[in-house]
Amino acid sequence: MCGIIGYLGPRLAIPVLLEGLYAQEYRGYDSAGVATLEEGRLNVYKATGKIAELDKKINRQYGSATVGIGHTRWATHGKPSDINCHPHMDCHKHIALVHNGIIENYQELKGRLQQQGHRFLSDTDTEVLPHLLEESYQGDLLAAMQETCRQVKGFYAMLAICQSEPRRIVAARLDNPLIIGLGQGEYFFASDMAALIDYTREMIILQNGDIADVSDTGIVIYNQGQKVERSVKHIDWDKEAAKKGGYPHFMLKEIHEQPKVLAQTMNGRLKEDCQNIDLSELNLQKQDLEKVNQIAIVACGTAYHAGLIGKSIIEKLLRLPVMVELASEFIHKDPLIDERTLAIVISQSGETMDTLAALRVFRERGARVLAICNVVDSTIAREADQVFYTMAGPEIAVASTKAYSSQLMLLYMLTFHLAQILQRQNQQQLNAWFAAMYQLPQFAETLLAENEQTIQALAKTISSWEDAFFIGRGLDYAVAQEGALKLKEISYIHAEAYAAGELKHGTIALITDKVPVIALATQDSLLKMMVSNIVELKTRGAYVIALTKGNVPEVDQVVDAVIHLPETDELLTPVLSVIPLQLLAYYAALYRDCEIDQPRNLAKSVTVP
Ligand code: G6P
Repeated sequence: MCGIIGYLGPRLAIPVLLEGLYAQEYRGYDSAGVATLEEGRLNVYKATGKIAELDKKINRQYGSATVGIGHTRWATHGKPSDINCHPHMDCHKHIALVHNGIIENYQELKGRLQQQGHRFLSDTDTEVLPHLLEESYQGDLLAAMQETCRQVKGFYAMLAICQSEPRRIVAARLDNPLIIGLGQGEYFFASDMAALIDYTREMIILQNGDIADVSDTGIVIYNQGQKVERSVKHIDWDKEAAKKGGYPHFMLKEIHEQPKVLAQTMNGRLKEDCQNIDLSELNLQKQDLEKVNQIAIVACGTAYHAGLIGKSIIEKLLRLPVMVELASEFIHKDPLIDERTLAIVISQSGETMDTLAALRVFRERGARVLAICNVVDSTIAREADQVFYTMAGPEIAVASTKAYSSQLMLLYMLTFHLAQILQRQNQQQLNAWFAAMYQLPQFAETLLAENEQTIQALAKTISSWEDAFFIGRGLDYAVAQEGALKLKEISYIHAEAYAAGELKHGTIALITDKVPVIALATQDSLLKMMVSNIVELKTRGAYVIALTKGNVPEVDQVVDAVIHLPETDELLTPVLSVIPLQLLAYYAALYRDCEIDQPRNLAKSVTVP
């Protein structure tokens, strides 16, 4: 939530800042601003709306500044407006600051600062920061930042510049991500590595409590007043991975990347002979696993939906109880976990605040934490006992697609691996699943190639709906929840997922003529019951689009439209069945002229609770 950017070096700052903001627009997009230092003067440009508005306002008047900071906002305190937009300044417009996070004690600090004569312009929590810097500034921005960080409670990633020290940027981080990219005599700052990959692959990931002092003479990092060394990471992401590559939207590109991503996620872990899974990276030992009496999965949003699948498959294959919880709920409970719990936290970004808080609850209670993350070296990845990377590459569209399917792949591999270690399934059955899993990338490719046009046509129908129901049983119900989320978040069509067996306990009252239902019927063992549910809906006039594995005449004959998935083992169908649902949502949103990659009110990385 909110993206920050900074530059110090020989280039013109504003084009670098704008480009970095465009690259991080998915982190927030209700207003944006930049501040530069030029001939001892601070220049600030702000605009409400998307980065393009700021770009228009600047109108290529880049000046000659080579130092600057910028911000794209997702409003928490104070509505989107030029006044509330970052950078914020002190009373004398001497210091400018951008911030991602929340200052929890801002009211108390603001009251005190106002009493001391500071004048505030905005409704934000952030504005206390430049005033605190002003208060303690005695010719040294670093010292002022150290003092400011001592006074604030909450979490932040922030950058500050000051008129009196025109070749210096001071950065601080606590619980929100902040990266420094290293060029030849130049420094780049961003919330996300993907924003810097065009400039450099050498990056320092600041750690909690770090304050970095960056000038032409180099970087010095402090933590709790002491100088610390931070290693430089070489990031080997493909440069093109964070670009649209000819697709009109990142979401469509990411949907189409799934066959490749599924293969990448298996690569080196599932051997070609499909006889074994190698997850030695997790270092899970039989004697430790035998002590585990439950597994707890915690995540938010789409990652939580992956967790629902995880619960079903782990319980089925391991016969171990699994709790799956939304991180935002879990952290307020007094959860029944202890050192015999194996915790799995799932997060694409590795920065989601609630998931991070849940991870810390697990650790406090002695549970071993395994994180499934996409972003390398993210906070969650670092704080977990073990990390299991999804290898999906940068996911830019706010609506998650390829991260979800790669999370599923890891959950399957993990479950098979645990079943192997604990000897809960016979090797023959495991080998059959390995072989089926190995085919999934090819099946996903076929599914996309053979069905996209049909799905696009169906999406045209869907785009005129205002409500939609997604139904399924077992694993299909978990996928239905993800399908409904996709549709509502990008097309703004009201969508709800129901366990098909629950329809008769209330929801069927809403089914009248032409009410749209998307019915997932991919589970062989539950097919008969699903067919009955579909027939009951058709009898009441519903318009039903079904998803089945291959031809299923008893479904095909009664529904209004059907999408056939390649035939795979029912345990693995979620990896495939989600793809048509992602495409339906994508094309429905396209027909409704929605902002697909940046849906209203949302942000990709939710770094506030
Ligand atoms: C936001 C994103 C979702 C994502 C969720 C959890 O809501 O828009 O796509 O599933 O956060 O994010 P995480 O990075 O923890 O997976």
